[in-house]
Amino acid sequence: MNAARPGSVHNYDELRRLAKRRLPKIAYDFIEGGADDEEGLDRNFQGFSRYSLVPRYLVDVSKRDLSTELFGRRYSSPVGIAPTGLAALFRPGADLMLARAARDANVPFIMSGTGTASIEDLGREAPDHGWYQLYAAKDKTISDDMIRRSKDAGLKTLVFTVDVPVHSNRLRNKRNGMSRPLKMPLKTKIEALMHPGWMLDYYRSGGPPMFPNWAPYAGPGAQNDADKVAAFVASQTTPPMTWDDVKRFRDLWPHNFVLKGIMHPRDAERAKEAGVDGIMVSNHGARQLNTAPSPVEVFPAIRDAVGDKMTLMLDSGVRGGSDVATALCLGAKFVFVGRMTLYAVAAGGERLASRALEIVRNELDLTMGQMGAPDIASLGPDFLMWDDPEDLKRNRRP
Ligand SMILES: Cc1cc2nc3c(=O)[nH]c(=O)nc-3n(C[C@H](O)[C@H](O)[C@H](O)COP(=O)(O)O)c2cc1C
Repeated sequence: MNAARPGSVHNYDELRRLAKRRLPKIAYDFIEGGADDEEGLDRNFQGFSRYSLVPRYLVDVSKRDLSTELFGRRYSSPVGIAPTGLAALFRPGADLMLARAARDANVPFIMSGTGTASIEDLGREAPDHGWYQLYAAKDKTISDDMIRRSKDAGLKTLVFTVDVPVHSNRLRNKRNGMSRPLKMPLKTKIEALMHPGWMLDYYRSGGPPMFPNWAPYAGPGAQNDADKVAAFVASQTTPPMTWDDVKRFRDLWPHNFVLKGIMHPRDAERAKEAGVDGIMVSNHGARQLNTAPSPVEVFPAIRDAVGDKMTLMLDSGVRGGSDVATALCLGAKFVFVGRMTLYAVAAGGERLASRALEIVRNELDLTMGQMGAPDIASLGPDFLMWDDPEDLKRNRRP
């Protein structure tokens, strides 16, 4: 397994291990970690394991078509890149590397509301594939201006993340001194010295990364002071948020509007009432409410509530093509990965990010072939069996 040769990397776990090798513990833990005692991380993976995919044979699967339409645009596969903040800490320039990898693979990339590249750069690099994820600000004029900037940059989808009402209890970060400014205990500093490649990049790029989308609002001199901007972001994020904010953003944004982090069927119904176009069923990769269910567990109830009225997407715990197939059989229109592509870009830059997208796409392609599903439209609940083998009897398809 060699980071320089993307072809030698074959799955999620190899990407994860390569990232772990290159990154100091403080950075790697920030990606991998969850909240509290991290039971939620396992629950997200187990959520998929509860489902089996029951194959149908004697179907012509010699040609498979993974292309998928979403919000009026056809993508090459139903797997996009979820927003992940602070990406430049793991590799300078990572946000736009991910954006370009997504563009070249013809899938969406969502820039984080705490991204480390600008909305305007995203508009230049990947106008047809870049979406912007908004974190609401206490000062409403800032959120409004970010919406205007996304519009001016030519982006067509805005994602409002609703599942960070307060910051979560991320113990790994506390133990490692992962704060702004960094407060690394001596043992964390010594461990970081064992990762010279990362250290070199970190210092060459000027140390702690900047949140350029927030810098214009953070006062004089902020453009050159990453820690000042970070403190400003911390003071502005997690404002009180209600459905009134959803309606206000809806009114300001003329294109596709998505809520990310919806987990309850009643909230899905309220999203529909508020004029939202789509929701991403997500528990933020188990980084917020540790005891939340996994998105696949709540998905059927949400699908029953609003599935025929709005676009449903899913993330959290997706590690490969069979997870994607399961989510699509449950009724998700599109699936996003967070850690998978972040591990990849951290370990090997844009080429490995492209490889990660290729891996998940190839896995999905083969899974569909094995299942007897020649295209995305043929995926449905008939393929699924979960804890109760009686489920198979309920299949209606001939
Ligand atoms: C390092 C990291 C940073 C993240 N930052 C954000 C963020 O800024 N905004 C957001 O909506 N979600 C954020 N997320 C959550 C992801 O968008 C996504 O919901 C999650 O990673 C999906 O789970 P997975 O990592 O198991 O694929 C972050 C996740 C990680 C791992």
